[in-house]
Amino acid sequence: MDLLAALSEDWTPGPALAESLGKTRQAVAKEVRRLQQAGIPVESSRRGYRLAPGAPVPQNVLPKLKGRFGRPYHYHGTLTSTQDELRRLAEAGAPEGTVVLAERQTAGRGRQGRRWQSPGGGLYFSLLLRPAYPLDRLPLLPLAAGVGLVRAAGVGGLKWPNDLSVFVDGELKKLGGVLLEAQVLGEELHYALLGVGLNVAEGGLPEEAAGIRRFLPGARRDELLVRALYEIERALAELEDPEGFIKRYKLHSLTLYRPVFARWVGEPISGVAVDVEPTGALVVRTKSGRKKRVTAGEVSLVGRVSEVRT
Ligand code: BTN
Repeated sequence: MDLLAALSEDWTPGPALAESLGKTRQAVAKEVRRLQQAGIPVESSRRGYRLAPGAPVPQNVLPKLKGRFGRPYHYHGTLTSTQDELRRLAEAGAPEGTVVLAERQTAGRGRQGRRWQSPGGGLYFSLLLRPAYPLDRLPLLPLAAGVGLVRAAGVGGLKWPNDLSVFVDGELKKLGGVLLEAQVLGEELHYALLGVGLNVAEGGLPEEAAGIRRFLPGARRDELLVRALYEIERALAELEDPEGFIKRYKLHSLTLYRPVFARWVGEPISGVAVDVEPTGALVVRTKSGRKKRVTAGEVSLVGRVSEVRT
């Protein structure tokens, strides 16, 4: 057994750990420092060592899993991006449901080529999908992941297409996001890497973000992860009926029926978001009354919500 697997949320004295691992106390102390430097939340005190409560380590996560996703589960301290590591595993034949999670990322990626800041205390994971869907359903995968995240977090809603967001004093703050990277061979989807970033703790986040603990103070990361994997699995299964799925997606939308400004390939569009089609496209009605479809890119809500409602 290695040191990480031997740790729990209860304090274990250094000598007891050393004895059970067949190592010296100095070797255990050195290994703890190595784990801490890698970003793994191991705490030390005069009482010994323990894992920070709720750490998404395998011994906390695996017994709680309710569905197929999360098996196998690869837990890391620091990675460039969980997408990179999962791609490597996917190319080596890893099965659908494989999850890679890192405590920190040095080059986390967001949508639209942006960086995803990944300070310690969040949840950063990638999930491997090998769906047998027609390729035109691909844009619905991140929407389904978004629905899964709202159901799992129990707070906020979705800014189109899949940002888990919440209004704070009339401004939208981002609690989490989804990045889809797909490997397509000819007309077939070979595999998809669904990357999920959830802001949990409040520290180290950009101005436009907020942590889930602001709304759920006691939220444990291991439980949040397990719920997210289960709810993403359930929402993906709902894609068998895209029209029914989109009806449920719309119930969580924070974008629908609000003034928006969309930036994407082609000219910028302003108007009111009036629909989300079963393809996942957002329909915006412009001032001239024309309806335009937005299929990719970034959409901002215009004005503070208090202004929009009056
Ligand atoms: C977005 O821009 O809203 C999507 C953010 C997705 C971030 C996650 S964190 C885990 C995975 N690894 C990455 O590099 N990105 C995704």
